[in-house]
Amino acid sequence: MTVINVPLGERSYDIAIEAGSLDRAGELIGNRARNGRFVVVTDMNVAEVQFPRLKAGLRASDISVDPIVLPAGEGTKSWEQLARLSDSLLARGIERSDHVIALGGGVIGDLVGFAAAILKRGCNFIQIPTSLLAQVDSSVGGKTAINTTAGKNLIGAFHQPSFVLIDPTTLDTLPKREVGAGYAEVVKYGLIDDADFFAWCETNGPALMAGDPDARAYAIAASVKAKAETVAADERETSGRRALLNLGHTFGHALEADTGFSDKLLHGEAVAAGMALAFRFSASKDICSAYDAQRVTEHLKSVGLPAGLDEAGVHASGDALVGHMMHDKKMAGGTLPFILARGIGQSYLDKTISLADVAAFLDRERT
Ligand SMILES: NC(=O)c1ccc[n+]([C@@H]2O[C@H](COP(=O)([O-])OP(=O)(O)OC[C@H]3O[C@@H](n4cnc5c(N)ncnc54)[C@H](O)[C@@H]3O)[C@@H](O)[C@H]2O)c1
Ligand SMILES: [Zn+2]
Repeated sequence: MTVINVPLGERSYDIAIEAGSLDRAGELIGNRARNGRFVVVTDMNVAEVQFPRLKAGLRASDISVDPIVLPAGEGTKSWEQLARLSDSLLARGIERSDHVIALGGGVIGDLVGFAAAILKRGCNFIQIPTSLLAQVDSSVGGKTAINTTAGKNLIGAFHQPSFVLIDPTTLDTLPKREVGAGYAEVVKYGLIDDADFFAWCETNGPALMAGDPDARAYAIAASVKAKAETVAADERETSGRRALLNLGHTFGHALEADTGFSDKLLHGEAVAAGMALAFRFSASKDICSAYDAQRVTEHLKSVGLPAGLDEAGVHASGDALVGHMMHDKKMAGGTLPFILARGIGQSYLDKTISLADVAAFLDRERT
């Protein structure tokens, strides 16, 4: 078992990664949470395919659970579902010493984490992420949120989990397109500051996509390590270090907005195209070599991810796309910070980019 600690003083916690760990959840969680009761919250898809394993794993340690099952999908990160979940938890008499377990993808993790943050001013919360995106990104770091009509993730809190349990075999039931979307965030860690890891992705990405358990476990551990280090250095995104995790996200946000935040383009798919755009934009400014930008583009395509506007199904003008970026919550004082790259593994935050240049670049990218 790989165990990675996130060192945050009294908010420190472990992330345990091992194939089959879900089936031993009682022993693994019971050890770390001796006091209190457990409540499991999941979505309808995960309730069917993975909850039975958790239930059996807990029962082996004489822990019985009756899950709260929410609808699947981004729409669940809403005021309405937050209210319903909070009321259900209160109706079960949840105390601060109890443990709310989020079993599911990033939607369940974000919503349940936020409910745990505000329930009785904060109760314990355990993440058991079951999508690749949640295993490598959203379950680590303590960002929790819901969406409102004004935008995504605008209402939320920092609330660190007390433990994260990752079983890579849960991905065996995850639709392949969702695996690809999570894989984009894996590649991101290589592109930010780990050229060796990107090279590993070039060699092993196709096997990971095809279901190779060793490749999956390795990529998850490497990603979690990278995210944990970033979070430990900049828990609340104040020093700029955590901002690098937004590589590909400003361009990607414009693509998601253009496709209506719908199933036409999943978040991770938008991030993939966004990272390729960030590298090609960097190359167009002579900040990065055309060779590195090409490597990024080729790798994403080789695993079936979109690496440009056309592949992402986006045909809007540069001006329209920049308009979407300006609605991004990271806009500050009239400029938009972009994560650009001097090369693979050499990303940095650039606050000097002209939006007119970005719009002209995007127009050149349209085919
Ligand atoms: N908190 C953070 O730091 C952070 C970071 C990145 C993303 N996010 C959030 O994460 C969310 C996206 O997460 P996601 O991509 O996991 O979406 P998701 O939770 O909607 O999961 C994707 C789909 O896969 C299904 N699913 C999950 N695990 C499964 C399994 N093992 N087998 C079969 N089906 C399974 C879900 O039911 C859903 O239909 C977004 O809301 C995003 O804002 C948060
Ligand atoms: Zn993302």
